[in-house]
Amino acid sequence: MEVVQLAGSLGAEITGIKLGDVNETSADEIKALLTEHLVLFFPEQFLDPKTHVAFARHFGKLEGHPNLTNPFIDAPEIFELAATRGGIADEWHSDLTFQAEPSIFAILNMVRCPQVGGDTIWANMYKAFDELSEPLQDLCLGLTALHDADPHGKSETMTTHPVVRVHPETGRKSLFVNEHFTRRIVELSHDESNMLLGYLTKWVSNPRFTVRYNWTEGTIAMWDNRCTQHYVINDFEEERIIQRATVMGDQPQAAEPPRWRPYLRSVKHGASSRLDRQLNTFLGLNPQMLETNRK
Ligand SMILES: [Fe+2]
Repeated sequence: MEVVQLAGSLGAEITGIKLGDVNETSADEIKALLTEHLVLFFPEQFLDPKTHVAFARHFGKLEGHPNLTNPFIDAPEIFELAATRGGIADEWHSDLTFQAEPSIFAILNMVRCPQVGGDTIWANMYKAFDELSEPLQDLCLGLTALHDADPHGKSETMTTHPVVRVHPETGRKSLFVNEHFTRRIVELSHDESNMLLGYLTKWVSNPRFTVRYNWTEGTIAMWDNRCTQHYVINDFEEERIIQRATVMGDQPQAAEPPRWRPYLRSVKHGASSRLDRQLNTFLGLNPQMLETNRK
């Protein structure tokens, strides 16, 4: 395999391997490259859905998309997203963080892409955490965030994750809140949460944390959702079709235990109590969050 790094923070293009012929040994080598570069691109692979699934299975258990349908009877683990049918992921996110066990890896096949436009950007969430100031790192380490599937029309599908997670293989800390699915810092008031999430979700897209990839058809991309976020640039008119295999999931582990209790309003029934409605609903469904050893 030949490896060409694409940016200073993450991303490498790999040639000299046919993904349809990968065995356990070469899959391990790919996994090591992914651990090092966080997102890998394999141009000119042109995998059919069945071969795509066979390749993806080397990296763990696969799951179809919870909220999107699948057109392939012989490869039910693949989901397809066509831009003209409403799918352009032009907000920063990592995949499926509204689930208790979000996706670990995405393995994406660029089936059809525009002549110009439709690039994707990824950002390195280890760096986004490492480069925060010490006081802000310390605050984030003690916090939890509520995520929901509102972008898929299912805001009642909710879960919480640590704001800073530890990667189970590298032991490194990464920032784990995103613009698309993260709604609320559990321990902060609505306004405080908006202020901090507003800052963090802007911070993670700092250009120096990113790599931008210009697609060609037949390219396979593979990324680690535990330490990256991505964003599709919505600047194209032509069709853009992707097929994705999704490797599921472990439960994100907090770098440190949560330090404070969830935020509960002391003034009931005020007009602004609507701002806490979603958090209160979640806590009502998960009362154990109020019975922890938190301060
Ligand atoms: Fe995505």
